[in-house]
Amino acid sequence: MIPLKASPELVPVGGADTLPRHVAIIMDGNGRWAKARRLPRVAGHRRGVEAVRRIVRKAGEIGLEVLTLYAFSSENWRRPMEEVSDLMGLLRHFIRADLNEIAGAGVRIRVIGDYRAFQDDLVKLIDDAIARTAANTGMTLVIALNYGSHNEIARATRALAERARAGEIDPASITAEAITGELDTADIPPVDLLIRTSGERRLSNFLLWQAAYAELLFTDTLWPDFGEAELVEALDDFSRRERRFGGL
Ligand code: IPE
Ligand code: IPE
Ligand code: MG
Repeated sequence: MIPLKASPELVPVGGADTLPRHVAIIMDGNGRWAKARRLPRVAGHRRGVEAVRRIVRKAGEIGLEVLTLYAFSSENWRRPMEEVSDLMGLLRHFIRADLNEIAGAGVRIRVIGDYRAFQDDLVKLIDDAIARTAANTGMTLVIALNYGSHNEIARATRALAERARAGEIDPASITAEAITGELDTADIPPVDLLIRTSGERRLSNFLLWQAAYAELLFTDTLWPDFGEAELVEALDDFSRRERRFGGL
């Protein structure tokens, strides 16, 4: 487990009972962070990786059950080849450099999205990271790679349809729960708090099903500037929200 060494001012107000089980983050604004400094976009992505390190550590200290990070969307292939390749290089580097610490802290790594479309060596690194941390019992770190909700829901639906065609299941058994159980996030609780940095107010095809009742938090802070204090502030904000789930 990650040792609890948070300073008192960086602990969320509400305590464990108002802590979200699952926080998901759309890490946006790396490019604008770099542009504001007249740096190449990749410099922003590098700083973005540092923010990932900080937030994973802090989330573990706080005791979050699940942290999901949107690292590469199924639409991000539309970027120039050079940027895609920079992002893949940073992912490679991140796994190589940080897996020891993450695994040592008891974190369990999961991946959602069609990451098998990545280069073979990267797929192998990812598979190794998942396998090496599978038995860990601390925070679950879900990394969304080549992820898009539409694609995920389509794959789940197809799998259920195939099973119905084979006569293994009755189409009448295709309930919301059955679909939930077929998504890449099967057995991961729904999103309680969804954060997007950089001032954009959209979901960009992220966890559309799983965030059905998530509290949404949009901040102007650019992802490379998102630190421990910002995470704690977001958790404090969440602890003050009243969730109704359709009831009174
Ligand atoms: C988020 O930052 C990182 C990824 C999408 C991989 P952006 O690269 O989208 O940064 P902006 O939106 O151009 O500032
Ligand atoms: C969403 O950010 C994807 C990730 C953070 C990985 P984008 O920057 O790609 O989203 P859009 O294009 O502005 O909607
Ligand atoms: Mg962006």
